[in-house]
Amino acid sequence: MAHSKRKDYEADIKWWDITDREHYINRREFMRKAGTVAAGVGLATAAPGFVQNAFAQNGAFAGLPGSKYDTDEEQNTLKQASTYNNFWEFGAGKNDPARHAKDFVTAPWEISIGGLLANPVKIDVADVIKRYRDKLEQRIYRMRCVEAWSMVIPWVGFPLHELIKDYQPDSAAKYVRFETLWDPEQMRRAARSIQYPYVEGLRMDEAMNDLTLVTVGMYGDVLANPNGPPIKIVMPWKYGFKSIKSINKIEFVEDEPVNTWKKAQPREYGFYSNVNPERSHPRWSQATERRIGERGRRETLKFNGYGEWVASMYDGMDLINRYY
Ligand code: MTE
Repeated sequence: MAHSKRKDYEADIKWWDITDREHYINRREFMRKAGTVAAGVGLATAAPGFVQNAFAQNGAFAGLPGSKYDTDEEQNTLKQASTYNNFWEFGAGKNDPARHAKDFVTAPWEISIGGLLANPVKIDVADVIKRYRDKLEQRIYRMRCVEAWSMVIPWVGFPLHELIKDYQPDSAAKYVRFETLWDPEQMRRAARSIQYPYVEGLRMDEAMNDLTLVTVGMYGDVLANPNGPPIKIVMPWKYGFKSIKSINKIEFVEDEPVNTWKKAQPREYGFYSNVNPERSHPRWSQATERRIGERGRRETLKFNGYGEWVASMYDGMDLINRYY
């Protein structure tokens, strides 16, 4: 490959233009070592001294526009967000994903989009990103885990309704069902108490809500391995377990999907799982939460503070006893 004259526009080439992400990262690394990457190119977001995986810290999504939903609360650090995780395919301990997902292979990554729609497809995530690159934004969301801890994380993604509009599910489709890759070879440390593949779902109006983000990055970069690369869904008004990681299947379906945690413990976890300080978990209160990195506890907000955009979807529903 000819190297001459490339450096002028090297900065504008992103990994999804090249498809072979590994090649791209190696090339960036080479260019950086050779001192040829122009100053200020995407490196500004790197947390000093912390490299989570081979794909991190290359500024793949630096400089994107923000959103009207951004919180101005203090953000957690990338290190916090990628070393304190639930990703049970890599173990149940909070630090397990950081330790055991180091070599998780996330490119190439095919995702199937099917179920009740005329033209089911299989598409690589690099092509998904290419297709929606003009819709990508940074969204600084609160994330509230059902275990009563929380973080603030700047995600990168595009609204799921963009994809739904393009793939045009039938009117019979009432829900969207998501699945995580299940690869026992790569996930030898998976916790045994839940079944795999991990499954989640949304009602169609929830899926169409502008807050529902197809997420492909964080902190201006690709998703760190413990956070579910290369593609996940984030719904900030729901408990974190709804935000399913490393998705390889999206299906439009008629019936309410049976999500993993509801299946595992139906008395404790439901389908909707909206953040709700008024409904205690059977084993703990949800009235307060511990923000990772802070002392003391915060009051938990209904719908995690996103009620103005989502509350009306649940008008008339009993969110405490029935639709929890
Ligand atoms: N997705 C899969 N496939 N497997 C998991 O174990 N854990 C969920 C959710 N998505 C989980 C998952 C839970 S309980 C939480 S709190 C969030 O991921 C954590 O997301 P984060 O690590 O990106 O903050």
